[in-house]
Amino acid sequence: MRFSDDYLREIAERNPIEEVVGEYVALTKRSGINIFGLCPFHGEKTPSFSVCPSRGIYHCFGCGKGGSVINFIMEIEHLDFPEAVEFLAKRAGMPLPERGDDPRAALKSRLYDLNRDAARWFYSQLATPAGAAAADYMARRQISPRTAKNFGLGFAPDSWDALTNAMKALGYSERELTEAGLVKRGKRGGVYDTFRNRLMFPVIDQRGSVIAFSGRILGDGEPKYLNSPETPVFSKSRSLFGINLAKKTKAGYMILVEGNVDVVSLHQAGFDSAVASLGTSLTGEQAQLLSRYTKKVVLCYDADGAGQKAAKRAIPLLDRLGLEVRVVTVPGAKDPDEFIKARGAEAFRVLIEESAGGVEYSLATAAAGLDLGSDKDKVAYLKAAADIISTLPDTVSREVYALRVAEQCSVQPDAVRAAVNDARKRRSNRARRAEERENTRPEQRVNKATPGVSFGNIPSARAEQALLAAFSVRPDLLDKGPDPEAFSSPELRNIYEAMRRTSAAGAEINAVTLTPYLSPEEARIYSSLLNAFPTRPDTAEAAIADCMARMDETLSAGDGDLMRVAQRKRNKFDTIKGDGNG
Ligand code: UTP
Ligand code: MN
Repeated sequence: MRFSDDYLREIAERNPIEEVVGEYVALTKRSGINIFGLCPFHGEKTPSFSVCPSRGIYHCFGCGKGGSVINFIMEIEHLDFPEAVEFLAKRAGMPLPERGDDPRAALKSRLYDLNRDAARWFYSQLATPAGAAAADYMARRQISPRTAKNFGLGFAPDSWDALTNAMKALGYSERELTEAGLVKRGKRGGVYDTFRNRLMFPVIDQRGSVIAFSGRILGDGEPKYLNSPETPVFSKSRSLFGINLAKKTKAGYMILVEGNVDVVSLHQAGFDSAVASLGTSLTGEQAQLLSRYTKKVVLCYDADGAGQKAAKRAIPLLDRLGLEVRVVTVPGAKDPDEFIKARGAEAFRVLIEESAGGVEYSLATAAAGLDLGSDKDKVAYLKAAADIISTLPDTVSREVYALRVAEQCSVQPDAVRAAVNDARKRRSNRARRAEERENTRPEQRVNKATPGVSFGNIPSARAEQALLAAFSVRPDLLDKGPDPEAFSSPELRNIYEAMRRTSAAGAEINAVTLTPYLSPEEARIYSSLLNAFPTRPDTAEAAIADCMARMDETLSAGDGDLMRVAQRKRNKFDTIKGDGNG
């Protein structure tokens, strides 16, 4: 293992979970030993996200996420385990442990350095004679030298090996260049620069690390953009171009656009909260990233059909995270960049101020192409509109929009209200039926508290979870625990073995000291079982005996021992997921 238990214990002591989580989540409500706040991992209006300082865990009763302070940082900062430990070490001003024995972390750290050096080199190329073409192109696009510097824009010269040679001179290997996606391997085994004769946009993450590049052709031609491939430090679906700058905005909202040039141009015009999703339609992970920095998103996609379709798809993703969504469509221009160049920043500011909310926008798109003068189209629109309005959680907004639609279609408000109510009933019936289906499956019910546990039989799994919870308050009794083989659930057995190993090494058992032995899924299960089976130290011994008896019983009950064992073996592989949102 890379980090000693002592080191991890110190990490935990110097990073109290309520303090670390408190930097991301307003923990407002105290209840028993837990403090509650709004879950940062799923959208919610009432707090179901809990932090338990005494146990060193967090757990969301809504989405099931949970674990130690290290798991929290892994999840919220999108880091892997060693990175999260380093993050917390830095936070607490602790010296970093040697990283020599983790090859993957070492590679990532090299790739970050390499990308940063490559970005610097691309930037320096702007000042060379060959770079004049790129500088001219930026001038034509009205990108000022200051903006170029702010974004670290650069130029990849028209050469097969200029970058390769420059980076080799700095000590980077061909393998590192390949892993970073900066070079490609040719048919004869040699390598050549990926980006040639392009304007380079470094993609910089929220921590300020250069993780990828997006290279635009100078002028017309195909492909217009070339992006870095997925690498150990870059995942397109989790990244937003411009987030490093936009996260510092004071605007109170983020602007989501399609193009890199739009981002650059908006920032230059004073809209410092613009980001783009690198040519993909918005992903849930990108929406979540946004939600860490803002409560309100202004969508300003290209004016064409594709852009409008993409905006429509993005709305529910943002909505689900509890974000307020506004939609701006630029009139008389193809994209925000063109609009600002033609009409100026002030006009764009007005567009933002007057932007329609997500509902208005959805209603408008539902009406697009329909002739509300025709009865047939009117009926179709009313149905679609009622469906949209029925998703609104509060009565007042439903009434406001129902009235507006009634007026628009010249029908009685009551007719719209009735249609909305029907749609709401259909929606809640659907939800109720889904819940009933779930309730008729008892294994789902037992598993709801700790989704993701796979088990051979329900009573045993329940006893196994309670047993682990009891051992967590009386680890001194672990020697007296059952044989790991007695566990029917592989995840629970793994947690048990991690507890025994940690305790045998003389370390204290808590969420943090267990973290290195547990997968994120197991860490989540561990924190939720502590919540589902709270045990007091004074009753733990009895609870342990009781659980072990119950596990024994289910193991040897009745006549069909062998059958049960066989069945258990088979069931072991049928992981029963919770309600799928864990
Ligand atoms: P756009 O074609 O709208 O590019 O694609 P743009 O940035 O607005 O550039 P201009 O103003 O036309 O010069 C939007 C985004 O889609 C991705 C890029 O991230 C681009 O910024 N894209 C586009 C690609 O990844 N590959 C392509 O070939 C084209
Ligand atoms: Mn564009």
